[in-house]
Amino acid sequence: MKEEQILEKIFDKVETIPTFPKVAQQALELLRDENIDFKRLEKIIKSDPGIVANFLKLVNSPAFGLPQKIDSLFKAFMFLGVNQIKFIIIASVAKNYFDRPLKGYGIDAEGMWLHSITCGFIAEEIAFKLGLNPAKIEAVYIASILHDIGKIVLDLYMDLEIEEFYSAMKEHPDWDFIQIEWLVLGVDHGLVGAYLLEKWHFPKSISFAIRAHHDPDLMIQSEVAGIVALANALTNYLGIGMGVDAFYYRLPEDLLSFLNLSEKDIYKLLKTGLYKMLTFQREF
Ligand SMILES: [Fe+2]
Ligand SMILES: [Fe+2]
Repeated sequence: MKEEQILEKIFDKVETIPTFPKVAQQALELLRDENIDFKRLEKIIKSDPGIVANFLKLVNSPAFGLPQKIDSLFKAFMFLGVNQIKFIIIASVAKNYFDRPLKGYGIDAEGMWLHSITCGFIAEEIAFKLGLNPAKIEAVYIASILHDIGKIVLDLYMDLEIEEFYSAMKEHPDWDFIQIEWLVLGVDHGLVGAYLLEKWHFPKSISFAIRAHHDPDLMIQSEVAGIVALANALTNYLGIGMGVDAFYYRLPEDLLSFLNLSEKDIYKLLKTGLYKMLTFQREF
């Protein structure tokens, strides 16, 4: 079966494909304006109580370092920069997807959530360091926080058994996990995630980065993809939310030079990632 057909089959089975809330889309759109109407932003977000609850919980995490307890959206906006607001909105949405264990991949709910957020924090740090423009920073947030969403779709709808992965890995000890996924599922979680993001009408640059996050040839074809792939690898090195697959991926030798980063930068990124994850974890 060709990959298109397999993807269609997976998504056909899905009665209720998770959706990316309209409210969050509208909020992100508003935040792209030069003069942001914060009253309107508040009104839009308030129409989704689930997002409001996640937003207020997230914003009060010590990882965001605000000087006082925030109890209203408007107050939060006054303390935060536009990038931080975008990050928290995307994370607020992601919380709802990553709030369940992935038994097929051997990750518990907390691990999955921390993995996604830490990847977001590290990716943000790289994006700032490279001086990316606001549009690209937003793309990096979305792609990094949601990079493993394909795992959710596969785990939910393919009745994955971790044993199948283990036995395939035992049989092919020199394969990377992408090859294992193709053998077991006929598809990989990067491709499934990218397909979902396309269904949600996100720009190609974002779905491409998700598609590429384990593909050594693709990840050095775009800055956003390279950042997401590196941030994910560093999150795995830190041991955050590792599943059956964590150490079974390849990175291209020239990923660091492609992103203009040195080994010293990697050390700093690992430190930031670990620090943010630990401060963040205290609240969740
Ligand atoms: Fe992944
Ligand atoms: Fe990952």
